[in-house]
Amino acid sequence: MDTLKGRSVVLRRATPDDAPAFRAALACEEVARWWTRNGWLDVEGDLARPDHRRLAITVEGVAVGMIQWWAEESPVCPYATVDMFLHPDYHRRGYGTDALRTLVGWLLSAGRQHRVTIDPAADNTAAIRCYEKVGFRRVGVLRQYWKDDAGQWRDGLLLDLLAGDLAAGREGGHGDR
Ligand SMILES: CC(C)(COP(=O)(O)OP(=O)(O)OC[C@H]1O[C@@H](n2cnc3c(N)ncnc32)[C@H](O)[C@@H]1OP(=O)(O)O)[C@@H](O)C(=O)NCCC(=O)NCCS
Repeated sequence: MDTLKGRSVVLRRATPDDAPAFRAALACEEVARWWTRNGWLDVEGDLARPDHRRLAITVEGVAVGMIQWWAEESPVCPYATVDMFLHPDYHRRGYGTDALRTLVGWLLSAGRQHRVTIDPAADNTAAIRCYEKVGFRRVGVLRQYWKDDAGQWRDGLLLDLLAGDLAAGREGGHGDR
């Protein structure tokens, strides 16, 4: 995949040059409270790996966030999972919804994936609202799923999406199938 075009964002493969922008976003409290300081330690090193699946979310050529995916290739229960963040300066402008809808649309097209999951903190209302807007459905609470920077166990919420659930998001186009 080279680029995926949404309504207002373009997703492209992230490179080590994106590390400063990603670090700047991760350093903001609005992002760090959900990604945690231990959430992504070796940004430069990970972006240099040839097999990474991280995309820069760009708006008019500027990297404003990151969206990543990973796939469980099981022959019996395959699924892909997605995670993302945007710099707070770009929150609440529809970019998160557009980026997620665009990536998930690509993942589900051409038989690439059958099911996509996402697992925000159970109290991350902004993320959950964004994901439900794209068509994700709540599966259930993941008890004591992740540890915050204070060392406290926190619950997660598992959501999943099948191709038919994305129906509301068809306006996003794909630059590369
Ligand atoms: C989660 C995140 C990616 C959402 O992206 P976004 O571009 O701000 O979201 P959108 O503008 O597309 O908004 C989607 C919906 O969520 C709502 N929403 C967004 N931020 C919200 C907030 N802080 N509180 C309540 N609702 C919020 C929007 O109003 C919109 O719903 P609506 O159309 O019914 O009004 C972004 O907030 C973010 O990067 N957060 C920090 C990192 C994070 O939590 N990542 C997810 C980890 S799983």
